Amino acid sequence: MTLRRRLLFAAIVLLPLVLLAAGWIGLMFLQQGGAAPFRVPAGIARAVSTDAASVERGRRLAQIGNCGGCHTARGGKAYAGGRGFATPYGTIHSSNLTPDVQHGIGAWSLAEFRHAMRHGVSRNGVQAPVFPYANFALLDDAELDALFAFLATLPPEAQAPTADRLEFPASLPGAMTAWRLLYYRPASPRTATTAVPELQRGAALVNGIGHCALCHGARGRFSSLAVGARLDGGRVSGWYAPALNTLTLARYPPGALAQYLRGASVDGHGAYGKMADVIAQNLQHLDAADADAMEAYLRTLAPAPPSRRDTAAWDIPAEQRALGDRLYTKHCADCHGEDGRGEAGKYPSLQASSAITGPDPINAIKLTLFGAVAPATPLNPQPWTMPPFAQTLSAAEVAALVSTLRARWGQDARPVSAADVDAWGGIDER
Ligand code: HEC
Ligand code: HEC
Ligand code: HEC
Repeated sequence: MTLRRRLLFAAIVLLPLVLLAAGWIGLMFLQQGGAAPFRVPAGIARAVSTDAASVERGRRLAQIGNCGGCHTARGGKAYAGGRGFATPYGTIHSSNLTPDVQHGIGAWSLAEFRHAMRHGVSRNGVQAPVFPYANFALLDDAELDALFAFLATLPPEAQAPTADRLEFPASLPGAMTAWRLLYYRPASPRTATTAVPELQRGAALVNGIGHCALCHGARGRFSSLAVGARLDGGRVSGWYAPALNTLTLARYPPGALAQYLRGASVDGHGAYGKMADVIAQNLQHLDAADADAMEAYLRTLAPAPPSRRDTAAWDIPAEQRALGDRLYTKHCADCHGEDGRGEAGKYPSLQASSAITGPDPINAIKLTLFGAVAPATPLNPQPWTMPPFAQTLSAAEVAALVSTLRARWGQDARPVSAADVDAWGGIDER
């Protein structure tokens, strides 16, 4: 082939590929919102509402949305940022939300704040999705203005941001922008899919300020959330946040789910793990009408269609099963009953527990090792306690116990091994 022919051949073969790639990138660019998210409003004067009703509304929203929890380092100044979040791509630190002009958001305009909350992009660049802006994008202008007004009342803290420790490839320049392009798909704005005001209110609380999907949403590649705010269950910081739908919530009698969210124990079943923090810090402050609206909405969610079901039939070796049965009678049956039905008002049923019947055994392992106590709240001032067994039982014993209980009352699931207990039973966050 002559040089000319070679070039011609290359052009014929390569050009369509290049065009295809460009088209693909263009499509993704459009799907994440086009250029608008990257145009951070600049040069607008800062004006903050001091209207008392707006400030109070912002304070309530911040309480339910856990702004303070995530933006306060352990033992640090409130809202001054610096709390570290271990993610699969490194440690991300929250930012300073106090009105400090240099390190906080004291120089931001309302427009910039709204933009950051809607798109996750600010003068400091594209933000990591630990910041649940996909949910906060559903807040309306009045709610965002109220949050801004509340944040402006905080004492300014001159605390410099803590540097993130990102792992390859998240450490590459532009990685967050690339992530956004590949995985961020904004939910459609708060369109009324229902005419029932209570369900609209519940949907707004669950999918917006409550950002339940941050933990209860299934995750895909690179920590991307499944498209749409589906609550199909997922792992977060070493716990499993169960799917929330008509099937998984069937254990709650009418009205009981709202009570649970506000910190009550439902026949001995209270929150534990990460959900205990969410209730202690945020949801116990819900007013009754809002909690009822959340319950009403959650009860409309259909379970995900069964995916490729694990059809293998699992057998627990008879020896392991006998050990599990013995350990249950010895250590657990006093409280949870030999039949696993618990004791009304005191100890929860294990037959109904998502830790036993759910698809992921990690909560049962954690509960057995470290015990549990629901948060003390006005609706449950003196919670009953479950003792820890990390000192009493070996990893192999915990594995036998958990596998046996899941086989007894749960589903046909892969038995848990001692190695699983060692790998998943740590107290480390992740
Ligand atoms: C689950 C934890 C979490 C919650 C809840 C959360 N944030 Fe954040 N937020 C973060 C993290 C982490 C960052 C920093 C992300 C980064 O650096 O890429 C952040 C960033 C931000 C930013 C961007 C700051 C900047 O400099 O660009 C704003 C604004 C913000 N959060 C406001 C809020 C408000 C208001 C709330 C409550 C309604 C809230 N956040 C709730 C974790 C959280
Ligand atoms: C002294 C009483 C006591 C003993 C003994 C005990 N538990 Fe518990 N257990 C509790 C209490 C109380 C709770 C509720 C904790 C909460 O609400 O956060 C609980 C919760 C649980 C849950 C979660 C149930 C739910 O509501 O979803 C599981 C699973 C569990 N225990 C397993 C065990 C196993 C396995 C053993 C034996 C190794 C055991 N427990 C021994 C008191 C006990
Ligand atoms: C920080 C992570 C996190 C957030 C945010 C979160 N959850 Fe959870 N949630 C969990 C974990 C982990 C569990 C499992 C432990 C438990 O059942 O107490 C759980 C359990 C639950 C349960 C009990 C499920 C069962 O099987 O009985 C309900 C109901 C629930 N969450 C509702 C919500 C709602 C509604 C929101 C949003 C307003 C929310 N959660 C936000 C982590 C979270």
